[in-house]
Amino acid sequence: MMAWEPIALAQDADLPLILAVFNRYPSQLIPISASQLATYHRKEQVYWDSGIAMIARMMPVKSYLKYWLPPDTWHLNMIASSRQRKGAADEFMVRFLWQTHGRIVLSVYPFNIRAIKFYKKHGFRKVGEYNWPSFTVDVYQHGGDV
Ligand SMILES: CC(C)(COP(=O)(O)OP(=O)(O)OC[C@H]1O[C@@H](n2cnc3c(N)ncnc32)[C@H](O)[C@@H]1OP(=O)(O)O)[C@@H](O)C(=O)NCCC(=O)NCCS
Repeated sequence: MMAWEPIALAQDADLPLILAVFNRYPSQLIPISASQLATYHRKEQVYWDSGIAMIARMMPVKSYLKYWLPPDTWHLNMIASSRQRKGAADEFMVRFLWQTHGRIVLSVYPFNIRAIKFYKKHGFRKVGEYNWPSFTVDVYQHGGDV
């Protein structure tokens, strides 16, 4: 797969498998329902390519949680791999960084060691943390002033 091929949006028929891939990781990702996934899909925010499922969108506003972002920053909402440790996510991320000009923000549980290792490998840096009432997330950013 060439680095300059855009990441493919999901097709309708892919949704059941994508749902299963996301919900395979209940301790790393907040569980998602079929109807929530269908809503993201209608907005063209669900990607499925090379065994990686992702929900992402261009940010409509400049702040994410309490962090101010450069314009045209993408929010990576959820990502999960259907085949672990085979290099699929690495390849996917190289293409996504190219597609987004590297301006991406995301949040991750601080205990999610393999995801954090993955993000850091691709140049994401922690810009802060955000405390929800019942849990804390680390906020990572790629591009912009980081
Ligand atoms: C994070 C995730 C998407 C990586 O997908 P993957 O296809 O296994 O990733 P790759 O095989 O391309 O590996 C890429 C890098 O991820 C990290 N990584 C992946 N699996 C890992 C593991 N078991 N332990 C430590 N690091 C790991 C490494 O940095 C790896 O690079 P390396 O092999 O050079 O060390 C996958 O582990 C996943 O789906 N996790 C559950 C869902 C999740 O946590 N999503 C992120 C929520 S914010």
